[in-house]
Amino acid sequence: MRIREATVADRAAIVRIARASFDRLYAFFAVRGTRHAWPFLVAEDGTSIQGFLEGILFRGAPPIGYVYFVAVDPRARGLGTGRVLVQESLRLFRSRGADHIFAAVTRDNDPSMHLFESLGFERVARRVLWRWYRWRGLSVQMRMLLAPHEVLLVRTFTDLPPASPQEGSRTF
Ligand SMILES: CC(C)(COP(=O)(O)OP(=O)(O)OC[C@H]1O[C@@H](n2cnc3c(N)ncnc32)[C@H](O)[C@@H]1OP(=O)(O)O)[C@@H](O)C(=O)NCCC(=O)NCCS
Repeated sequence: MRIREATVADRAAIVRIARASFDRLYAFFAVRGTRHAWPFLVAEDGTSIQGFLEGILFRGAPPIGYVYFVAVDPRARGLGTGRVLVQESLRLFRSRGADHIFAAVTRDNDPSMHLFESLGFERVARRVLWRWYRWRGLSVQMRMLLAPHEVLLVRTFTDLPPASPQEGSRTF
């Protein structure tokens, strides 16, 4: 399986996977989010797209990473695709200096919760955004549009980011 940056040619597959993975409202935001996502990744097996990930990098000091949407084709789940998509996004966020990376997961979404927890994400209170970043945290939270049934997760890196960030496609 290969992880690479998404292109316009991937749009139809991404829309299909988003609609198969989320309710209407979240699918709408996932498709709309493709316009400005970074990192914006797809997992490709041969010529077929198995999953995608949309991130948001909040620039500034310090940069803040947010895993906005990650979804895998229902027929291809449980094979490690979600994990490599999130891992690659973490690498890219860190290459831009983000040592706190957030995600929001609905409380009843066990696969997603397990996926993030298995990659070192921990549940945090929403107010940490305010405590760590003050007004900036508030604007980040508003951009995240955290719903009451969502849990905020954070992955914190305390070591230095990788020395030579290498962007573009990677093979796992
Ligand atoms: C969440 C999602 C992206 C996981 O993708 P995936 O490719 O199936 O996940 P992986 O195969 O990489 O599994 C990684 C870890 O996730 C967890 N996980 C995956 N599927 C799971 C399931 N059905 N039940 C419990 N845990 C699960 C496990 O911890 C797993 O690690 P393990 O294999 O070592 O036990 C996928 O289920 C999905 O697209 N869900 C719908 C969209 C969604 O809810 N996205 C997240 C919110 S934006």
